[in-house]
Amino acid sequence: MSATTSIAELPTRVGDTVRVAGWLFNQRSKGKIAFLQLRDGTARVQAVAVRGECGEAAFDVLADLKMEASVAVTGVVQEDNRAPSGVELSVRDLEVLQNPSTDYPIAKKEHGVDFLLEHRHLWLRSPRQEAVLRVRGGVARALRRFFDDRDFVLVDTPILTGAIGESGSSLFTLPYFDLGNAYLAQTGQLYLEAACAAFGNVYNFGPTFRAEKSKTRRHLTEFWMLEAEMAFVDGDGNLDVQEQMICSVVQDLLATHAGELHALGRDLAPLEAVQPPFPRLSYTEAVDMLRGLGSDIEWGRDLGADDETLLSSQFDRPVFVRNYPREVKPFYMKANADDPRTVVCADLLAPEGYGEIIGGSQREDDYRLLQARIAGDGLPEDAYRWYLQLREYGSVVHSGFGIGLERTVAWLTGTHHVREAIPFPRTLSRIYP
Ligand code: 4AD
Ligand code: MG
Repeated sequence: MSATTSIAELPTRVGDTVRVAGWLFNQRSKGKIAFLQLRDGTARVQAVAVRGECGEAAFDVLADLKMEASVAVTGVVQEDNRAPSGVELSVRDLEVLQNPSTDYPIAKKEHGVDFLLEHRHLWLRSPRQEAVLRVRGGVARALRRFFDDRDFVLVDTPILTGAIGESGSSLFTLPYFDLGNAYLAQTGQLYLEAACAAFGNVYNFGPTFRAEKSKTRRHLTEFWMLEAEMAFVDGDGNLDVQEQMICSVVQDLLATHAGELHALGRDLAPLEAVQPPFPRLSYTEAVDMLRGLGSDIEWGRDLGADDETLLSSQFDRPVFVRNYPREVKPFYMKANADDPRTVVCADLLAPEGYGEIIGGSQREDDYRLLQARIAGDGLPEDAYRWYLQLREYGSVVHSGFGIGLERTVAWLTGTHHVREAIPFPRTLSRIYP
């Protein structure tokens, strides 16, 4: 095989004869001339075949090519001001690598979302899906960069766990040899807390699982979360880091993925408005505000998706809601000394109705209080022995948070449903493909 040139490189190769290998995502012909749209993963380009300029045999083959055929085109790179990249390829020869024997299932016409999800393995090739998933990669990189630049230690936490992380109601349970049940991790937080006492500032980034029977645009059963845990940081310091992280990720993304955001038709103005400081409301203030806006929420209830949307619509940037009632939050959150009905926690609500993207808190660092919370929630103390022991040996003030990758990507790309923000979504009703 002769060497191939990537499509992204073509603008620097004007006048050269090159070989490009890729997929044919569209073509049309008019008599002696055919226009082939090629994609190779680095970019897209139009190749123009004119009978007489390219080999006769090659030209005849064109008529039989189906959409998504894999081909290698040899041609001359030519400047073309109408092309988005400024170049097109003038075909000299064409090699068919594989030509589908049937029509590609995804056509230009509108398909229902069920059909598209059933063909997710092919749907990934569509421009919109490609752009969203490239942004996902960019957000993941920007998140890692933020923590690496600040010398947080990456600590990978287990996926098979013996204890409940968040809530007993959404656990995936599986038999584990002679040891009873194991659970798929809902969070790596408890393990990160152990690492935090060893290394100070730590983070993890990986898949987490929730057997949530929620069929909403914000819920997946498998999603990716980056979690950070910091020693000697309290509830306020925790929010400072989250605010810096979100601003840094948005800036990074605007710099590296403007092309994708533009292709997605994303309005950049709301993203450019993401600047510190973010408003910090207490849960009690949020409830008052919501009631003033017509919500029937009562103090003590968790905020629902509609409440989150209504509340965030009052602000032009992400908003923190702090100090939720103890009853609606997990056992590990530190009691709020100023109002013991509440805990030292905060959710970050994204703008434009994308809901909660971060959940975090200061952790209960008192052995007895934590033990009482574990018992109070009916959790088996045995499974948490090691977690309690962290409060026996040098317990310190510490805090952390988790940011959901798919909800963040959905917000940043302006994608309505989180299922398009992950390559192969897992939901209540789907595990294929
Ligand atoms: O608020 P959550 O449940 O917090 C935790 O798991 C903490 N242990 C994190 C920590 O303090 N280390 O989840 C954190 C974030 C949510 O804000 C949301 O972005 C995302 O994870 N998330 C989901 N994303 C998609 N589908 C679901 N079912 C999700 N559940 C949570
Ligand atoms: Mg939460």
